[in-house]
Amino acid sequence: MSKRKKIGILTAGGDCPGLNAAIRGVGKTAIAKYDMEVVGISSGFLGLINKEFVPLDDPKLSGILTQGGTILGTSREKPFKKTGHLSIDKPKLIKEHYDEMGFDCIVCIGGNGTMKTAALLHEEGLNVIGIPKTIDNDVWGTDQTFGFDSALLIATDAIDRLHTTANSHKRIMVIEIMGHHAGWLALYAGMAGGGDVILIPELKYDIKVITHYLKKRAKSGKPYSIVVVAEGIEKPKKVSAATYIAEKIEDGVGIETRKTILGYIQRGGSPSPMDRLLATSFGAQAVDLIAREDYGKMVIKKGEEISDLPLSEVGGKLRLVPTDHPLLEKAKGLGVCLGTSSL
Ligand code: F6P
Repeated sequence: MSKRKKIGILTAGGDCPGLNAAIRGVGKTAIAKYDMEVVGISSGFLGLINKEFVPLDDPKLSGILTQGGTILGTSREKPFKKTGHLSIDKPKLIKEHYDEMGFDCIVCIGGNGTMKTAALLHEEGLNVIGIPKTIDNDVWGTDQTFGFDSALLIATDAIDRLHTTANSHKRIMVIEIMGHHAGWLALYAGMAGGGDVILIPELKYDIKVITHYLKKRAKSGKPYSIVVVAEGIEKPKKVSAATYIAEKIEDGVGIETRKTILGYIQRGGSPSPMDRLLATSFGAQAVDLIAREDYGKMVIKKGEEISDLPLSEVGGKLRLVPTDHPLLEKAKGLGVCLGTSSL
């Protein structure tokens, strides 16, 4: 009989709907399928540094599937980031506390930064498994991260609502969508919400192309326009993308223009059913890897399959919208303006 395994779970980086579903997927599979001991680690990697642990038994895992946020809390702590010559050796502390707790493995649920830290901890000899989450959908190696579908629902609903008010006032409405350096959320929500202009960081835009397109729309009798911009597009540092683009449009087109910055609304609330399914599947897959002692992996979605890749191959790598993505082709075909001279 092999020793009963003891695993830790942490959630790190920006929160998103589905984190608790993932914690539940890991915990319930570990307990029900493998009789493992499960320990929650508070506030991401900070919890490992400060020894903030909470036992996760079955009652603690009940009722959290539909709950937004993370019951463990999160932080953007980067243990390997040097913060001055007097900085404490955080990776050393983490290893000491990992050994003190007698962990067989820690499951790190997070985005690019978290996967990078997980890969580095694995190189230091810790057993880790990564689960990719973020509303940005920009973790390399997986077709999708959980959090994205829930944010897509929220952003699309917001754009739907802008159509009615834009039409009432005959205005141009600019909405800023999160996504960090990637344009996945803006592109998908822009297309799902019927955006007339969609700007993403991956495509360099020309403001003259945009103003010309919007003037043409107005001249053709269109009563209003919807402009969807990813927060990461090129713009002056101190101003938000929506503010910058809205001012340029109002000056260049001469039609009343208003902006909406959707912000953290996109990270709140209960996860969508698809995110619950993806987060749960990722959690279960992570525990199967632990049971096989197949460490140093990140679970992934490839097509319909849930699989895994070595963390060393994916840690910290960004997945951006390819400029030949089929949805971009469809957008152009529909006559959507992507800010480029080809449309
Ligand atoms: O990574 C998720 C995300 O919401 C990004 O879309 C956004 O740019 C960033 O987090 C905001 O970071 P913070 O939560 O630290 O303000």
